[in-house]
Amino acid sequence: MENTAFLARLYQALGATALMLGFVLGALSGLAPAAAEQEMHLDPAMVRGPDACGECHKSSVGIWKDTHHATTFKNLPRSDKAKEIAKAMGIRRIKAESDCLGCHFTSSVVDGDVKPIAGITCESCHGAGKNYIDVHSDFGGKGVTAETEDPAHKTARYETSEAEGMIRPSRIYAVAQNCYGCHTVPNEKLVNVGGHPAGSKFELVGWSQGEVRHNIWYTKENNASPLERQRMMYIIGQALDLEFALRGVAKATEKAKYAVAMAKRAKIAEKRLQKIAEMVDAPEIQAILAIADGAKLKLNNEEQLTTAANGVSAEAKKLADSHDGSQFAGVDSLLPKLDK
Ligand code: HEC
Ligand code: HEC
Ligand code: HEC
Ligand code: HEC
Repeated sequence: MENTAFLARLYQALGATALMLGFVLGALSGLAPAAAEQEMHLDPAMVRGPDACGECHKSSVGIWKDTHHATTFKNLPRSDKAKEIAKAMGIRRIKAESDCLGCHFTSSVVDGDVKPIAGITCESCHGAGKNYIDVHSDFGGKGVTAETEDPAHKTARYETSEAEGMIRPSRIYAVAQNCYGCHTVPNEKLVNVGGHPAGSKFELVGWSQGEVRHNIWYTKENNASPLERQRMMYIIGQALDLEFALRGVAKATEKAKYAVAMAKRAKIAEKRLQKIAEMVDAPEIQAILAIADGAKLKLNNEEQLTTAANGVSAEAKKLADSHDGSQFAGVDSLLPKLDK
């Protein structure tokens, strides 16, 4: 039951078009949800590319162009380390159909062929745009502006946009799910055989408020996210870290670098959540800790660990939906520097 509700909500949040491949398969076959299958592919047929977004979001594209997300497109194939990883994986061309595409590049359909068109783009985080690009920016006809838009139209506009695959910044869990889906590097072969780093010390607040930050639509100053929102991002980020680490251990098949890194990741996230639980009053965090406590971080334990990850996910979504961070000043001393 919980799974069905979870899936339904995710469908709503992500929209049918922006679903990860694994998601669709998982849902169709009635398997565990989604994020379980780690390959985060946008449907290339639905991707419009950053230039299309830049027609209106010119300054966001300007900021994005200088980030690692954009430059990886050019730099990755030239990097010696990348060549080493590719060789170990038996990949000859990094930019051709390869294991690297899903996380380092965005693909689209160009003249009938699927091709990588850029690095990690707007749509990697906000959903593939084809079906929402027009609707999310239409205030209700010629001459109507954000200020004069009918409130009912605004509600309908965003409901439709989300149903068509848009991931709005206000959906902290859904936006962050993308980050963790790449940054925990949930790919055993890539790590154990390819020698790819097994994830990094990714943390949502620090890593979203540095080079990635582009809060320049509603105000021009590119200010950091409000403190209340940072608190929510911090806590939800830790929950997602735990969720993806549990999924990582669940899928691990051998006691090697990948399994060890994922188990460590889960332990660290659990410790942080314990600390958070001492500082704020939220039943969802207690529930997450109870779930983590019952999950054995060992090989051949896929079912229990996947169930635990789904439970953590459901609680994290509940937390995101039912709090705005104003009650969570307790975690302010834990918030990281905004420098990544
Ligand atoms: C035709 C102009 C136009 C294009 C093209 C466009 N946008 Fe927008 N975008 C807007 C407008 C206008 C708003 C502000 C909507 C509002 O005030 O509610 C907006 C808002 C947004 C927001 C913030 C929404 C929120 O919840 O606050 C995001 C994210 C976004 N756009 C992403 C994109 C992406 C990704 C693309 C490319 C796939 C894109 N946009 C293309 C005009 C555009
Ligand atoms: C599951 C997602 C994922 C896949 C698949 C993936 N990468 Fe990465 N890669 C990342 C992330 C995330 C980073 C950045 C690490 C960080 O700082 O969090 C990264 C960083 C790198 C780096 C820089 C590492 C360093 O030591 O500085 C190289 C090189 C690299 N990847 C090569 C590859 C190659 C080659 C492939 C395909 C064989 C590939 N990656 C596939 C997610 C992925
Ligand atoms: C790495 C993921 C990522 C990428 C890439 C990305 N965004 Fe965002 N975007 C976010 C997050 C996260 C937020 C909310 C940030 C916050 O709360 O500080 C956001 C916020 C926004 C907003 C609202 C800004 C405001 O003023 O409040 C718009 C509009 C937007 N993004 C458009 C874009 C466009 C256009 C691109 C491509 C040039 C893009 N984004 C690329 C993750 C991303
Ligand atoms: C589609 C996969 C993907 C998604 C989604 C994604 N990232 Fe990344 N990110 C990468 C990869 C790959 C790199 C490394 C690029 C390189 O340098 O080659 C990276 C690099 C970064 C860096 C630069 C790290 C450094 O070395 O300084 C930051 C910061 C970052 N990501 C933050 C975020 C945040 C925050 C989000 C979510 C809002 C996010 N990323 C979503 C794949 C992704």
